[in-house]
Amino acid sequence: MSTLLIRNGTIVTATDLYKGDVFVDGDRISTIGTALTMPADRSIDAAGKYVLPGGIDVHTHLDMPFGGTNSADDFESGTIAAAHGGTTTIVDFAIQYKGQTLHHAWETWMQKAEGKAVIDYGFHMIITELSDQVEQEMDALVRQGVTSFKLFMAYPGVFMLDDASIFRALLRTGQNGGTICMHAENGGVIDVLVKKALAEGKTAPKYHALTRPARAEGEATHRAIALAEMAGVPIYIVHLSAAEALEMVTEARDRGLAAYAETCPQYLFLSYDNYEEPGFEGAKYVMSPPLRPRETQDRLWRGLAFNDLQAISTDHCPFCMKEQKEMGSGDFSKIPNGAPGIETRMSLVYDGGVRTGRISLNRFVELTSTSPAKIFGLFPRKGTIAPGSDADMVIFDPNRSMRLGAQTLHMKVDYNPYEGREVTGVTDTVISRGKVIVDGETFTGRAGAGSFLKRSTR
Ligand code: URP
Ligand code: ZN
Ligand code: ZN
Repeated sequence: MSTLLIRNGTIVTATDLYKGDVFVDGDRISTIGTALTMPADRSIDAAGKYVLPGGIDVHTHLDMPFGGTNSADDFESGTIAAAHGGTTTIVDFAIQYKGQTLHHAWETWMQKAEGKAVIDYGFHMIITELSDQVEQEMDALVRQGVTSFKLFMAYPGVFMLDDASIFRALLRTGQNGGTICMHAENGGVIDVLVKKALAEGKTAPKYHALTRPARAEGEATHRAIALAEMAGVPIYIVHLSAAEALEMVTEARDRGLAAYAETCPQYLFLSYDNYEEPGFEGAKYVMSPPLRPRETQDRLWRGLAFNDLQAISTDHCPFCMKEQKEMGSGDFSKIPNGAPGIETRMSLVYDGGVRTGRISLNRFVELTSTSPAKIFGLFPRKGTIAPGSDADMVIFDPNRSMRLGAQTLHMKVDYNPYEGREVTGVTDTVISRGKVIVDGETFTGRAGAGSFLKRSTR
């Protein structure tokens, strides 16, 4: 068991900001104070820097078969990239394919992560088929620490569940304490619009966005919340992108419902305009829900500031342009949906959120770490800096700048949606359960050092 002393930093949590030292004994935070003098195996001077709880990204897709291909990062490359960006915990999605048990899906994803993940990880379970047996399996998974389930209102024939199945799953979480995460887009409407566009010869990437209207997200968000209200359980809307959807969440929260939602950096920093980039470039941004008009960004920032949105995750689902996105060069509906983001979240949100005054530093920590930890059963082990918590911390330099680009970042993807963008506020050092795993530019961690996190219920 080694010890570590972080001295002279500015410690930031969701509620506090003060100068101090943090002493780590083994994999936990032991003592917080000023001018701590205990001897340590390693001492880091964090003067002029923030000491933050490690970032928690509760929406990633590593090594995921999707759209006829596989997401480009596996659990090793994806978690190394996450660590470089200041994220020390992820919650990824295991998928129950039709005809399979949830247990089989869980085992499959546990095998994908084992021996590879460099940071701690948990799983949500995507349910694509619901039966009495699957409902019983939901209970078993919750007992094993997989305490949240993603359901889809989109992708008919692949992932989409009907309202009755969604309602049954919601009711079940009322008994077992799990949480339903919803991909809220009206898949039936979108499918009709996609077929119509293709029949009219509209094949370019921008038609991905034009066939997924914001109202289709608003409608599904409204329906998801209504179903959860009737079931008497909370609901968490994933990757919220549209103002129309945010209005539904806000209205529900104003009525006192336990409706929660996350948004992602791509919806805060990119917009529909990116689909108008020349040639096939728009494919870089093909994701679902799609990017929205630029004006939506302000609405989302306001939602984040006023707690109508509770988390910022990435929906990291990278596909290379070469051979992967290219699969849809003559038909936008064949472009694999998703984009990279696991590494750039903290710097983008700090630069575009805190430095611009849109959110406070405490709110930054809350949205990227504390609140996801609370919603998904990881707090106070993760998501804060406190004695007894896991020693997952980031020493963050608020004054250092870097230029984002596929060549210098660590994600295994041949483009970056923010290529050339300069951000100020960069991760210097990353500590995962007491061990320094990123030291400046150097990765010092180990594949397989990350552990599966058994999460608690609501
Ligand atoms: O386009 C996206 N979002 N790809 C990942 C799958 C999902 O729906 O989250
Ligand atoms: Zn989704
Ligand atoms: Zn996703």
